[in-house]
Amino acid sequence: MRLSLVPDAAAAVTADALVSGLWEAETPQSLLPRSLAEIDRSTGGAISAAWRNGELKGRRKEIVVFHRTSGGSRILLVGLGPRAAHDAERVRRAAAEAIRALAGRGVTTAAYDARSFVTGRVDLSTAVRSIVDGAVLGSYGFTKFKSKVPDAPVPSAVIAVGPKPPKAVAAAFAEEEALVGVVTWTRDIANLPSNEATPARLADIARELGKSHELKVTVLDEKRLEELGCGGLLAVGSGSSHPPRLIVLEYPGQGASAPTIAVVGKGITFDSGGISIKPAAQMSHMKFDKSGAVAVLGILRAARVLRVRPRVIGVMACAENLPSGTAYRPGDVVRTYSGTTIEVLNTDAEGRVALSDALAYAAKNYSPSAMIDLATLTGAETVALGDTIAGLVTNDDGLADRLRRASAATGEAIWRMPLTDYHRELVRAADFGDVRNSIELPLAGMLTAAAFLETFVADRPWAHLDIAGPAYTTVATRKYQPAYLNAGAVAFGVRLLSRFLLDYVPPGRTRRR
Ligand code: BES
Ligand code: MN
Ligand code: ZN
Repeated sequence: MRLSLVPDAAAAVTADALVSGLWEAETPQSLLPRSLAEIDRSTGGAISAAWRNGELKGRRKEIVVFHRTSGGSRILLVGLGPRAAHDAERVRRAAAEAIRALAGRGVTTAAYDARSFVTGRVDLSTAVRSIVDGAVLGSYGFTKFKSKVPDAPVPSAVIAVGPKPPKAVAAAFAEEEALVGVVTWTRDIANLPSNEATPARLADIARELGKSHELKVTVLDEKRLEELGCGGLLAVGSGSSHPPRLIVLEYPGQGASAPTIAVVGKGITFDSGGISIKPAAQMSHMKFDKSGAVAVLGILRAARVLRVRPRVIGVMACAENLPSGTAYRPGDVVRTYSGTTIEVLNTDAEGRVALSDALAYAAKNYSPSAMIDLATLTGAETVALGDTIAGLVTNDDGLADRLRRASAATGEAIWRMPLTDYHRELVRAADFGDVRNSIELPLAGMLTAAAFLETFVADRPWAHLDIAGPAYTTVATRKYQPAYLNAGAVAFGVRLLSRFLLDYVPPGRTRRR
């Protein structure tokens, strides 16, 4: 979508539609907000009439369109709910609802009145960022395989921030526009079906990204993985004719003393369960089992585009989990990169097996100050937290704090879950290996998976984000989800970890201003 910022007041902008936020009435007798007085006059009082009649309340998700009595411009009022409860996420959602409502109405240009979304708690820069998120992500759709172009074209948008916007607003706009551009790019890759997005294809995409964005990219193929002793990733990919790849991307950071952050992603291009095969229903969702690794691609691209300060190492553990005569089996014991052996009790618990090598590889070769992994790891995550919130498990309270702050700023929701010696013991209680990949009990599946991963992080500060729920949307709940999420991949984690990297200051140091 085409998007721009203008320093003028919304009233001075010509567009087919003006988009303004509307607060919910505090009492039934509340007057129409005074900021709308001028707009109301241009509609001949239609807005105030609708308000008095209770047809316009400013409730969240409410959209009412008015026409001016002269001039072609429409006015779209989008409900924001009570002013006291306002936050950046409400702007994000409202901006997306508005652009979606305008699509297919013959509107070619829309102008957001950024100031109509501002309160004491949401300043102009924050409102602009959220409008950018909502407008761009809300108009995203994965149309690569649609033969006919959709007949409801999305209007281009301008964000009016005048009069006299502070200087920081333009910088906030530029940064957020670059970031959401990365998010839609990431969604386009995460949405690729498994017949297209093989491990080798993901490696090609990584290499192209490396060329276009000055990232060092190393691809370890099956031969190299064999030499290095990456028996976990190899085992997971052994049933497929598309062999596994461990893909490493490197962004150098700013300055020689930049701290190193490793982001590690689960890249199962399709998860059938393998020999421990999954039921057929909804198995197609498992094309999104690469979402963590694809998010890593996006995060590395964002690191470069936004010029974050830390050095960032991305590691993608890519393999396809299929049953076949060459597939790994329940009962197999495999030796991993760190030397730790895994007893495979369930080939469907493949993500942790693939990540064992990726985490150990990152820890050993880059000694990162922090490691963060993103993985659609367990169905238990979705059972516990649903399909909007990622599970966080970490061995470092400082990391948890930083992630919590990035989450609040971006609206990518996370919730910290515990990790105890009990869960570690359950994972270690293997008869024939150092750890087992399934405890074979319906107990704390998200936590035992995390305890398994922890075995491979070499005591580094580490955070695990189980994104099984929020990585993609499904028809069952989509209509209840924010309008900036479309069918399919969300690219969850890209905005969260980009914000984390932008704000990252090494522990013990304070940010110079
Ligand atoms: N990729 C799945 C987890 C998943 C399930 C993600 C549903 C998104 C939606 C993962 O590889 C898996 O199959 N996990 C098993 C582990 C079990 C066999 C120990 C699970 O959660 O059932
Ligand atoms: Mn699985
Ligand atoms: Zn999986």
